[in-house]
Amino acid sequence: MAAVTQNPGSQAGTSKPSPTNVRRMTVPDFQAFKKRGVRLTMLTAYDYTMARLLDAAGVDGLLVGDSLGMVVQGNEHSLSVTLDEVIYHTRLVARGIRRSLLVADMPFMSFQVSPQQALENAGRLIKEGGAHAVKLEGGVRSAASIAAICSADIPVMGHVGMTPQSVRRFGGFRVQRDEAKLMEDALATEQAGAFAVVVECVPVEMAQKITAALKIPTIGIGAGVGCDGQILVTHDLLGLFDDLRPRFVKQYADVGSAILHAVEEYCREVREGTFPTIEHSFR
Ligand code: KIV
Repeated sequence: MAAVTQNPGSQAGTSKPSPTNVRRMTVPDFQAFKKRGVRLTMLTAYDYTMARLLDAAGVDGLLVGDSLGMVVQGNEHSLSVTLDEVIYHTRLVARGIRRSLLVADMPFMSFQVSPQQALENAGRLIKEGGAHAVKLEGGVRSAASIAAICSADIPVMGHVGMTPQSVRRFGGFRVQRDEAKLMEDALATEQAGAFAVVVECVPVEMAQKITAALKIPTIGIGAGVGCDGQILVTHDLLGLFDDLRPRFVKQYADVGSAILHAVEEYCREVREGTFPTIEHSFR
């Protein structure tokens, strides 16, 4: 893809977005960005407050990822996340966004049983959660489900490479290096009708080849700079979660430490009797 560092589609940034200057990102926009060589930005979100901030900062897409099982619920993996939980968090995020495309993850066992099951559950994420699109893992093995969901005009984002819901089969969160399988999965995802595909934890060169072979945008995570866009788990980027530190994460802020310091100071002032002052009290 041609390198364009500035995102001309972004209307957010330093100036506060107002209802008149914000246009919602759409599925066709994602595809147009690839054609124009404009890199797409995505992050995860799980609640209203964070979604508002990320949206105001100009992120193109927000994913209510099943990573919520780890960073919100404190589990070691995402396998226990339920469809109702994703619907609940999607609803919270939907209230906070004005610009970003909202993608909801299909959790483990919400689409694997049959294409019919996948379609019904994708429909719930759209109707009850307010998602604009759904994401599901797996290439060749999920192609029939992707096609079934697309047949109802529900946009689907695929997810190939290191698919966290397969953590038991992989034996951990490991880089995927089988080039033929990766390419086959990515092509199957596109042919089934997906509008974009997450490529997770694959060597840079392979992600580049996949990106060149596909018409739909690739959204990389641990897949190098050759993808059409990038996604990270917001808690990793902000330094809010350190149970796991994958090499591909860049921590842009240390919000975790800021919270610790603020709360320590609050506790100290309450114990000393220096908070609340008259300024924070009613007469
Ligand atoms: O669940 C998730 O957050 C994801 C992203 C890491 C791509 O699938």
